[in-house]
Amino acid sequence: MTATVLRQHAEQQYAAELAALAAADDRPRPPRWRLSPWAVVTYLVGGTLADGTVISPKYIGSRRLMEIAVATLATDRALLLIGVPGTAKSWVSEHLAAAISGDSTLTVQGTAGTSEESLRYGWNYALLLSRGPTPEAIVPSPVMRAMEAGSLVRIEELTRIPSDVQDTLISPLSEKTLPVPELGIERQAAEGFNLIATANNRDRGVNELSSALKRRFNTVVLPTPATLAEEVAIVEQRVAAQGRALRLPGTPPAAEQIARVVTLFRELRNGITEDGKTKVKSPSGTLSPAEAISVLSHGWSLAAHFGDGLPGAHDLAAGVLGAVIKDPAQDPAIWREYLDTVVREREDWRDLYRACRELA
Ligand SMILES: Nc1ncnc2c1ncn2[C@@H]1O[C@H](COP(=O)(O)OP(=O)(O)O)[C@@H](O)[C@H]1O
Ligand SMILES: [Mg+2]
Repeated sequence: MTATVLRQHAEQQYAAELAALAAADDRPRPPRWRLSPWAVVTYLVGGTLADGTVISPKYIGSRRLMEIAVATLATDRALLLIGVPGTAKSWVSEHLAAAISGDSTLTVQGTAGTSEESLRYGWNYALLLSRGPTPEAIVPSPVMRAMEAGSLVRIEELTRIPSDVQDTLISPLSEKTLPVPELGIERQAAEGFNLIATANNRDRGVNELSSALKRRFNTVVLPTPATLAEEVAIVEQRVAAQGRALRLPGTPPAAEQIARVVTLFRELRNGITEDGKTKVKSPSGTLSPAEAISVLSHGWSLAAHFGDGLPGAHDLAAGVLGAVIKDPAQDPAIWREYLDTVVREREDWRDLYRACRELA
């Protein structure tokens, strides 16, 4: 018996949408692209095709930003997505690779320990020892494989990679080639090759991009959602999808519960209540949509397994507290003040106030 995978790659999960888009798409496609730039943006932001096929929105936010990102990938510049954690950088990058190249798996996860080998190539040591350096003994990195295939490669958290290792990317991005000095050869990128990197604002300064590398990128900043309605839509959609994937029993959190958690996170993040009347202090955590999504999924799981199946204030309070209080020195006081000046005053938030007070 084969096990069901926990999480499908975007190109598998949305295979039907991608096929419908390809069939309907009569606009010009850049070399080796599976879809035209217009169809890629439609895949990202959603829409309805002439034949009635509904394309679900993956990115909720500015269509123009997605157009800028996609247009970049059709030029000789690479794309750098930056933003605070949880603003869909990785998510957008995966969907871009799925829609453009049909493969989102050519990915390097950037860390302080990422080596040049993982951006260039390594060696199969058994072959290297028995036959010496030959092209067959090369173990290509995702970057090299994307260059050979003419597809997109993704570098996650680029700025966490040490700067001298980052600079390995300069030849592939500027000369479109990867030298293999051991063999006196080079691998030239096929048409269609390009790169999408993501980086967190908060990491900046850890390993800044070198200016030589920076010039090879167009930067697109992914913002936190502009309006409450937009952020609620993002969270609602992702919580429902996650619950389905995890096959959580019970019912998903009701719209009012989602709106409350998102409101609370926005107010603490923005330092002001949604009505613009009361200033509040911001805690140290990022309180992004991604955090709201996990608080609500957790509440769903608590209610489904240990409660009445209906996620309520009691099931959400623990998750909210965990997301808000990251720095034990400063955040508890900030949270207490918000609870007493904002949460307590709202008639329809009484149950949430009580549940939070019980935990504090
Ligand atoms: N604008 C948005 N549209 C759709 N989903 C979003 C948006 N912002 C955040 N998300 C959701 O938040 C989650 C975390 O996003 P992720 O790509 O991991 O963040 P990042 O890489 O920026 O830290 C994803 O499940 C994504 O669907
Ligand atoms: Mg990410």
